Amino acid sequence: MALPFFAATSVTAQTSSPGLSRVENFNRDWKFSKGDAAGAEAANFDDAAWQSVGLPHDWAIAGPFNPDEWGHTGKLPWRGVGWYRKTFTLPAADAGRQVYLDFDGVMAFPKVYVNGQLAGQWDYGYTSFRIDATPFVKFGEPNTVAIRVDTTKHGSRWYPGAGIYRKVTFVVANPIHIAQWGTYITTPEVSDESTTVRIRTAVDNQSNANADAKVEVTIRDPHGKVVGSTSASQTIPTSKSHDFDQTLEVAKPLRWDVDNPSLYMATTAVRVGDQIVDQETTPFGIRTAEFTANDGFHLNGRRVQLHGVCLHHDQGPLGAAFYPRAMERQLEIMREIGVNAIRTSHNAPAPELLALCDRMGFVVWDECFDKWDDKADRVNEEPSVEEHGKRHLRALVARDRNHPSVVVWSIANEISDMGGRHGYTKERVVAMRDIVRQYDDTRPVGVAHHIPETANSDVFDPLDLTGWNYARRYHIYRERYPDKPIVYTESASALSTRGFYELPLPVARTDYSEQNQVDSYDLNCARWSDIADVEFDLMERDKFVAGEFVWTGFDYLGEPTPFDRQAASSYFGIVDTCGLPKDRYYLYRSYWRPDTPTVHILPHWNWPDRVGKNVPVFVYTNGDSAELFLNGKSLGRREKLKNYSPPVNIAVGKPSTASSVGVRRGKDQTPGFGNDGNPGTRWIAASGDKGQWWQIDLGGVEPIADVVLRTVGRPGDFLYRIDVSDDGSNWRTVANQDEWYEGWGDQFTHGINTDARFIRVTFTDLRNDARASLREVAVYPQSYYTVTDKYRLKWLDVTYEPGELKAVAYKDGKQIGEAVMKTAGAPAAIRLTPDRTNVAATGEDLCYLTVEAIDAEGNLCPLADNLVNFEIDGPATIAGVGNGNPLSLEPYQADHRKLFFGKALLIVKANEGEGGDVKVTASSDGLQPATATVHSGP
Ligand code: GAL
Repeated sequence: MALPFFAATSVTAQTSSPGLSRVENFNRDWKFSKGDAAGAEAANFDDAAWQSVGLPHDWAIAGPFNPDEWGHTGKLPWRGVGWYRKTFTLPAADAGRQVYLDFDGVMAFPKVYVNGQLAGQWDYGYTSFRIDATPFVKFGEPNTVAIRVDTTKHGSRWYPGAGIYRKVTFVVANPIHIAQWGTYITTPEVSDESTTVRIRTAVDNQSNANADAKVEVTIRDPHGKVVGSTSASQTIPTSKSHDFDQTLEVAKPLRWDVDNPSLYMATTAVRVGDQIVDQETTPFGIRTAEFTANDGFHLNGRRVQLHGVCLHHDQGPLGAAFYPRAMERQLEIMREIGVNAIRTSHNAPAPELLALCDRMGFVVWDECFDKWDDKADRVNEEPSVEEHGKRHLRALVARDRNHPSVVVWSIANEISDMGGRHGYTKERVVAMRDIVRQYDDTRPVGVAHHIPETANSDVFDPLDLTGWNYARRYHIYRERYPDKPIVYTESASALSTRGFYELPLPVARTDYSEQNQVDSYDLNCARWSDIADVEFDLMERDKFVAGEFVWTGFDYLGEPTPFDRQAASSYFGIVDTCGLPKDRYYLYRSYWRPDTPTVHILPHWNWPDRVGKNVPVFVYTNGDSAELFLNGKSLGRREKLKNYSPPVNIAVGKPSTASSVGVRRGKDQTPGFGNDGNPGTRWIAASGDKGQWWQIDLGGVEPIADVVLRTVGRPGDFLYRIDVSDDGSNWRTVANQDEWYEGWGDQFTHGINTDARFIRVTFTDLRNDARASLREVAVYPQSYYTVTDKYRLKWLDVTYEPGELKAVAYKDGKQIGEAVMKTAGAPAAIRLTPDRTNVAATGEDLCYLTVEAIDAEGNLCPLADNLVNFEIDGPATIAGVGNGNPLSLEPYQADHRKLFFGKALLIVKANEGEGGDVKVTASSDGLQPATATVHSGP
């Protein structure tokens, strides 16, 4: 029986002294209805039949999935209209005060009605906004707020969620109060002896008389000790605002750093007469942060290599609904592999993300927009980019500028267009930069970009730095701007499905499985990108770059490259949508945490169909070597490769010919453009006929490991064959692209592993008026995968027999650890492992339970896909279930889930205001059930 230990209230007053502003939780007791509802804004509308919900709420995560839809936005029903309603009573004593509703994020286009009247609306699903309800509310009586939410015009390249997916705060303010985001704290001078802290406070006087206001600032150090205070007074005329600007010195400051995130607190109190009318406490950090052109990122004067990850905003099985604990867990999982930087790709995050990064020690690339088109909620290209930027960059920067974790502002991601209504122009970039600087001029303003040639224009002139996504695309920029810092804002886009292995191994990075899953030997990536190892090596060589942000830390809903049609969630993550580690997790950990022992064996050792056949074994370790044993027999000791240099393209400048030469912009598009090392130029055939070919002569028979083609136009419009020859007359086919490709990316890698002198590409079929054409053909004698020998240990020739694999790892001759992988027997039982055994009964705290099938000896059964049922006994409910399978269209909100490669996840939410033990039971036919007890307390 659950016992209430405090009354469940719809609002929790945090401060309540008379006259003082009041900030209340406004997340409980909402009514929701999907679809449009005529007249639902009216105060007396009957919503009795509507669903009762609490916030955060994402109506689309409940499904159902639409299997026929492409997977780009997750196959979930996020597009549509929904209504929310809530009734609240304002005490009569509040009469004369200001009433605000603060929204952290609503997807999308909310129209907020108070007592039937439109009080305000907002035009971007990711930024925070305030609605002034004062003119519409009634004091001493019930009030109704009704919100129409409409995602029909929202554009997205991933799952955006739908509804009031972040918290809402209710503010009853004294007419004289600190403006929203009115506090701005900077540390203009930082030294080890002392720091100048500057506190700016915007105070609004909405009373109908002039007010003599005094702002009192108190600063506490990370131990809570008062280390400084100051005050200033000013008469603020009625209906006006005043910016107080005060400084004080803090002696011997403790620095905020990723390793030791010390936070100071500034309390700002506004006093009128003898009464404090408003008060706010703002955490801040004392640190210096600088992106340099030649030596990466410096934090407090020390170079810090950014080991970053990009994170989308969804929380897997919870959808877009934002729970602080879900975010905290994401960060904990990332921290475990050595992540020290987060890119909020590609939108304003929930504010709690930044508070967590402040507290846990991550630096943040804080990004406002993806594109500037409908993905920024600009409908029919209205309003102008600049006007939109004024509202939403302000919402991002003014809100987030006090967080020490934030080290850079980003105005967009991968804008391909130049000019027009939403593309780049220099003027537009200047305008966006200046909006940012108006609210914060202490951090660099940048953008993330992907087209190298854009750097030939002047659009990057106004920016402090630029982030580049993938494939060392910053080379032109680096030459043009040797004095500007570079961040590798997206790296890898490596792909894998947790637990899925397929043999034989892929021979090229874009050889994907036919099963619509991606092999976990970590040899696949997207067509435009690279495996993790290539990026590690690149960052070691390009030390001027601040470091990388891996695409992505977590799998997310939508964008299931390379199976965009079939799947519903991504394959990019280092961990799956449930936060369960893929093998890559250990690869990153072994590299990013060189001093922490990691010894990880892959694959699993359950291959009943391959007894006597080859199953390669990889070991990810921070050690430099390891010995592998199979059933006690040594399979040899392997060492990491020390002298590695990247593959060299031997095609550049070699004689090439073609079946014909087309003309573009009055210029012959000669075969040589196909192998001049410049993807900006291209060979084009004279006609759209099939059978056109392009050929290169390497000058002699050479070893060829990989041939990489980059096509022109839509990559899915070509079928081609690659033939090679030693003498130019006897040809053999080494690759055949005979299926229309449906995904993104124009780069096709073929691992051909042969010796030859001539290479010919023949276009066997074309569609959509495409013409045979090639941007670039690259030929590499050294395998693309050689780099993996630098970061992984591989035993390629292991013959499978069931039993036990053991890896013993060494570093500098000393044993650092070992790992064992056993063949599991038949599934016998369920194992349930909660991430925490105590949760808070706040209505938003979560417990994550890992669900596994184990054999009689407790080994994980790596192929188990049993259906597991969940039961909760106690004051909690199921918040979501998942298993990380990108192809799964099972509901995320359910009391059951199939295991996927032996594992699944159950997320339990503790009820608000009720304490007690929560007993969770997981059962499955034929298996011994498991229980776990989680205590919910105050
Ligand atoms: C980038 C883009 C990301 C994501 C990624 C996948 O080009 O910025 O949003 O789509 O590709 O590899």
